[in-house]
Amino acid sequence: MTKSATRSTGKPRIALYGMGQFGQIMARIAAGKNWPIVAAYNRAGPKIGQDVGLLSGAGRALGVLVQDCETANFDQLEADVGIVTTTNILKQNFPAYSRFMNAGANVICHGTDAYNPYNSDPVVAAAIDKLAKEKGVTFSGSGIWDFSRIWAGILVAGPCTEIFALKHRSQTSLLRAVDEKVLREQQSAFGVGYTVAEFKENGNCDNPIAHSYMGVPQIVLKHLGYTVTESRSHVEPVIFDAPIDCPPLGMIVPPGRTVGSRLVGEVHTKEGVTATMEVEVRLFRDDEIEYMRWEVDGKPQSRIRIEREDTIHSSASCVFNRIPDVIAAPAGIVTITQLGPMKPSALL
Ligand SMILES: NC(=O)c1ccc[n+]([C@@H]2O[C@H](COP(=O)([O-])OP(=O)(O)OC[C@H]3O[C@@H](n4cnc5c(N)ncnc54)[C@H](OP(=O)(O)O)[C@@H]3O)[C@@H](O)[C@H]2O)c1
Repeated sequence: MTKSATRSTGKPRIALYGMGQFGQIMARIAAGKNWPIVAAYNRAGPKIGQDVGLLSGAGRALGVLVQDCETANFDQLEADVGIVTTTNILKQNFPAYSRFMNAGANVICHGTDAYNPYNSDPVVAAAIDKLAKEKGVTFSGSGIWDFSRIWAGILVAGPCTEIFALKHRSQTSLLRAVDEKVLREQQSAFGVGYTVAEFKENGNCDNPIAHSYMGVPQIVLKHLGYTVTESRSHVEPVIFDAPIDCPPLGMIVPPGRTVGSRLVGEVHTKEGVTATMEVEVRLFRDDEIEYMRWEVDGKPQSRIRIEREDTIHSSASCVFNRIPDVIAAPAGIVTITQLGPMKPSALL
C-alpha cells in the first residue's frame, strides 16, 4: 500500500504514548503551538485519567485524559502522528508502534533503537516495515542524536574529496533529571560514586545504553556510502583527581571514585576508512559544557563542534520538529538520514 496523504489539512494531530519526562515536554511544546493532542497513553499507574495539559505543566487543561494503553480502544484514534517515548528497545515498544500504525498513524519513536531499526533488531524492524507499508504510514526515530551527532557528522564530511578517518568525541552531563527514580537509574547505569571494582561488578562495562552510541558512526558511515565490516567498543570508568560535588544525589564524589562512563570504540569499513569514538557520560565540573565533536581527517580537514545548552528540550524538539517530515515521507521505515537535515518549527 502506498502512503495516503495526511488526513488533516491543518496542524498535525498528535497522539502521545509514554507520558514521562519526554512525553510531557512534547505535550508542552504542542500545547504552546496549539497543535492538537488528540490522545495520550501510558501503562497503568497514577498518570492514567489525568488531563495531559495539567500533568505536563502546559498551564491549562487540554481536555484529553491519559488512557491505559492496555485497555484503550485505538480503533477510534484520528491522529496524523503517534509519538512513542516509552523505552529505548524496539521490541519492547512494538505494541505501541503496532497500535498506532493499525490506527493509521505515522510513528516517531524517541527510543535510541529507532534511529537505525535494522541495525538494532532486524527481526522487529522487518515487522515494523511490513506493517507500516500495509497501513500506508511511516515509521522513524529521532532525538538528540539527530542534529548533534548524526547530521553533524554527515554535514562535516560533505565537502570532502577524500576521507581517511573520522573521529567522534562528546561529553554529556549526567544527573540533570529532576525525577528521583530517573536519577537513581542514571547513577546505576553510568556508575557514579563507585570504586573501579564496584563499577565492573555493577555491570557498568556492559551498559547497553553506553554501547548503543556505536550506532552513531555506523549510521554516519553508511549514509556516506561506506560498508561497515566491524565495530568494537568497551566502556571504562571516568575518574577525577579532585572531589566533585553531586547535589542531585546529596554526595561528594571523592578522587578515585567513578564520576561516570566513557565509551571507547572504533568502526571499520570495507573501503578502509575507520571512525573512532570517545563518548563520556559523566558528572560535569562547573566550567564544563556539553559538546559533540566530529573531526574528518581528509581533504579538506574539517571539524564541527556542537554545544548543547539544553539537552532535554533539544531531544524532545528533535522528535517534534520531525513531525512534518515524517508525515510527508513514504510508507515504511524511513531513517532521519533519508529525511534530510531537520528544520525548525519556530514559524509553524
Ligand atoms: N533518542 C534519544 O536520543 C534519547 C535521548 C534521551 C532519552 N531517550 C529515551 O527516551 C525514553 C523516554 O525517556 P523519559 O526520560 O521520558 O523516560 P520516563 O520519564 O521514564 O518516561 C517513560 C514513560 O513511558 C511509560 N512507559 C514505560 N514503559 C511503558 C510501556 N511498556 N507501555 C506504556 N507506557 C510505558 C512510563 O510509565 P510509568 O509512569 O509507569 O513510569 C513513563 O511514563 C527512554 O527510553 C530514554 O532512554 C532517548
